[in-house]
Amino acid sequence: MLTVEARSWHAARTRKALLAVLAAMALVVAGLLAGAGAASQATAATQEPCDIYAAAGTACVAAHSTTRALYAAYDGPLYQVRRVSDNTTTDIYPLSAGGAANAATQDSFCAQTTCTITEIFDQSGHGNNLTDAPAGGAASGPDNLAVASMAPVTVEGHKAYGAYIAPGTGYRDDSTSDIATGDAAQGEYAVLDGTHYDNGCCFDYGNAETNNDDDGDGAMEAIYFGTEKAWGYGSGNGPWIMADMENGLFSGQAAGYNAADPTTSFRFTTAMVEGESSQWAILGGNAQSGSLATDYSGVRPAGYNPMHKQGAIILGIGGDNSDGSAGTFYEGVLTSGYPSASTEAAVQANIVAAGYAAYSTGTPFVAGATVSIQATTPCCTGDYLSQDSGSDDVGITAVTSGSSSATKADATWVLVPGLAESDCVSLESYSEPGYYLRHYDFELYAEQNDGSQQFAQDATFCVQPGNSGSNWSFESDNYPAKYIRHYDYVGYIASDGGSNAWDTATLWTEDSTWQYAAPWA
Ligand code: AHR
Ligand code: AHR
Repeated sequence: MLTVEARSWHAARTRKALLAVLAAMALVVAGLLAGAGAASQATAATQEPCDIYAAAGTACVAAHSTTRALYAAYDGPLYQVRRVSDNTTTDIYPLSAGGAANAATQDSFCAQTTCTITEIFDQSGHGNNLTDAPAGGAASGPDNLAVASMAPVTVEGHKAYGAYIAPGTGYRDDSTSDIATGDAAQGEYAVLDGTHYDNGCCFDYGNAETNNDDDGDGAMEAIYFGTEKAWGYGSGNGPWIMADMENGLFSGQAAGYNAADPTTSFRFTTAMVEGESSQWAILGGNAQSGSLATDYSGVRPAGYNPMHKQGAIILGIGGDNSDGSAGTFYEGVLTSGYPSASTEAAVQANIVAAGYAAYSTGTPFVAGATVSIQATTPCCTGDYLSQDSGSDDVGITAVTSGSSSATKADATWVLVPGLAESDCVSLESYSEPGYYLRHYDFELYAEQNDGSQQFAQDATFCVQPGNSGSNWSFESDNYPAKYIRHYDYVGYIASDGGSNAWDTATLWTEDSTWQYAAPWA
């Protein structure tokens, strides 16, 4: 006899399966209509990755992306965010059917608060949505959720956000429909940030156990990306695209080193793993240009033939919820059937055509730059944001070519990715490496990073168009609407009117607007 819980689970499964069938039928009809349209209007030729897989007979059975629609006809939700301020959620849709995500929805919903990504919807119609991963054999849970603003990019000419996986973060669906099980054939691809990785276990995307435990060799078949060398690795220093088949990340037929699997670290990297009976492959390449390389294609490792895939889907974690790894995910799919080389080539061409690019606000105040920061208030245009390396106080100080080298060094800052938010910046002291500009009681100091989250937030500033209408302003990460300002030659974070003397609206726009200057040091 079924328990109530099992009955409702069974009913949900049946409903889900029915919905999946209906959705699949709708897609077929949509495909026929699209086909009819294509015949009459040559311009309506747009195909997205899952249209390509479907046309080749290896349809997507899960399609996830926070950046764009993976079907030309898809106009449903891409992902859901939840904001900290009032715990409410909103769904992010494509700008139009088949288009890029409408990041403006996220930006306005999450303004002045922090959002996490609570769900990445399955665009394939199979209901295989990714949500917060539960505890597993290797780690407690639920896992953390990705902070939604951490991975901005441009795709199809529009701003969008990837899913930024810090260690501890993970997504999963243990109750899927139509994902390959046992030794059945499947394909998987993911577009990842090839510069964001670590050597933890295991930044994966793909097929895994439905019970969150390590169920033995062959129980999973997922894409892995990173520099974890415990089981396998390739040439160079990594990162490598490997296949996580459970109790092993494989870079080729045998465990350990396989020279043919190259370091693949393109800013935007396409990673693919395919598997069918007695055969599997790794493909990889630059998601911004060119074609894919086949890094491995051949027989299974010993002990992994046949496979025992279970058909759950994971993102950012290993099969047993090993959650010690980092990475950034933009889009990916699981297919039914083993995609052909020509199909994978067409998908890669589609990814390249999507035009992934690093997101830029156009400001010169970007991570990696060494700069001086000049005041714009008429009183003070010869002054620069400076620390006093004796007292660690920060204010504005006049600097000229005749100034001492110590004064010049104190007026110079090294910009690094924001300690609390990589989209923003932190200002490291040029005179005292390891010291950062931070606010404390709303006043600015250059202090040594103590590694705390509080310090990271106090030391993170998001560069915005200048409050006076030109140049740039530095908005506090944890006090949005408060900006770096000088007042009486002392540095603060200040709002436009407020309770502190330095919040005075008089000259606020000018005092909180700064000009880029070449580094004095
Ligand atoms: O196969 C590597 C990892 O080993 C799997 O992701 C995890 O389930 C196990 O710990
Ligand atoms: O910081 C110098 C000046 O001091 C500011 O422009 C003004 O707000 C205050 O009088």
